Amino acid sequence: MKPMSQTKLDEIKSTASAQFKAATSSKSLYDLKVQFLGKSGALTEVMKEMANLPKEEKPLFGKKVNEIKNFLEQVYVEAEEALKKAEMNERLATEELDLTLPAYVRQAGSEHPVYKVIEEIFTIMARLGYSVRTGPLIEKDYYNFEALNIPADHPARDMQDTFFIDQHHVLRTHTSPIQIHSLENEKPPLRIIGTGPVFRCDSDISHLPNFHQIEGMCVDQKVSMADLKGTISFFVREFFGPGLKTRFRPSFFPFTEPSAEVDCSCPICKGKGCSLCKHTGWIEIGGCGLINPKVFYNAKISYPEWQGFAFGFGIERMGIIKYGIDDIRLFPENDVRFVRQFLS
Ligand code: PHE
Repeated sequence: MKPMSQTKLDEIKSTASAQFKAATSSKSLYDLKVQFLGKSGALTEVMKEMANLPKEEKPLFGKKVNEIKNFLEQVYVEAEEALKKAEMNERLATEELDLTLPAYVRQAGSEHPVYKVIEEIFTIMARLGYSVRTGPLIEKDYYNFEALNIPADHPARDMQDTFFIDQHHVLRTHTSPIQIHSLENEKPPLRIIGTGPVFRCDSDISHLPNFHQIEGMCVDQKVSMADLKGTISFFVREFFGPGLKTRFRPSFFPFTEPSAEVDCSCPICKGKGCSLCKHTGWIEIGGCGLINPKVFYNAKISYPEWQGFAFGFGIERMGIIKYGIDDIRLFPENDVRFVRQFLS
């Protein structure tokens, strides 16, 4: 090896390591690293001289350069550690923290009452062997209406003012399409519960354009109105407690026959009559009935081999009754002062 390059290398080694050790701040240490080991640093410059060396000397020279590079990197790491420690000690000794500044108070959220009600319903229905299903919010016309025995020109479509997406798709107006998805995709016997948002062009003290429903369906070999009443009475008693009065009122739904509506006594006026219950003393929570054979026929389930009942309740309505909330519009507002009252 040419003595010239050798000397230069030794010089870099000793100067750089001495200067690394003598650096007084992380910043100046880093600058030194760039100066000696950087892309256009001293070591790289010497490397360029390798081109002028005779072929047989090149490997030895390259090895030497690498050794020095590794050595200096090691010296750098150690010097850096020592400096960081010293800098930290310096900060600990001199910096003062102002611990008197009041801490930022975090507003703890809580489960929304709608989901609290849903969870409670799931727990009660699970005890009767029901398990949870979901369905899309944008439904094909077929699932929201047609399969549920509500043909295009059926007057029952007026009962539910619908948000149409296009000619064949709607924002689901109820959770009953979940019944059809389950009948099409699963084999009876079935005990399912479906839930989620539903949409209707409707808004006043007791109606929201976007509210939540819970749908129940039982399909088995022999299912009667007595099973339906027994199941709903159990469910309502478990949910509201024994003090609440309920009644079944004959009604009509195209997808159930016979059909009934379920009312609970108004918790605000205790049955005397107020604006929430429209002066009737009762609040309707939803509908129910035995599954219409036409629905089974549409879903290709053989009837009367299989029979069933279904029910659909409004979640917000149930929350209103259970917690004595006097305006349904409080639910979507998401005001923490309202929501936090349901902290459990
Ligand atoms: N889907 C009906 C509604 O939204 C309620 C219902 C469900 C009625 C199941 C009967 C059976 O009004």
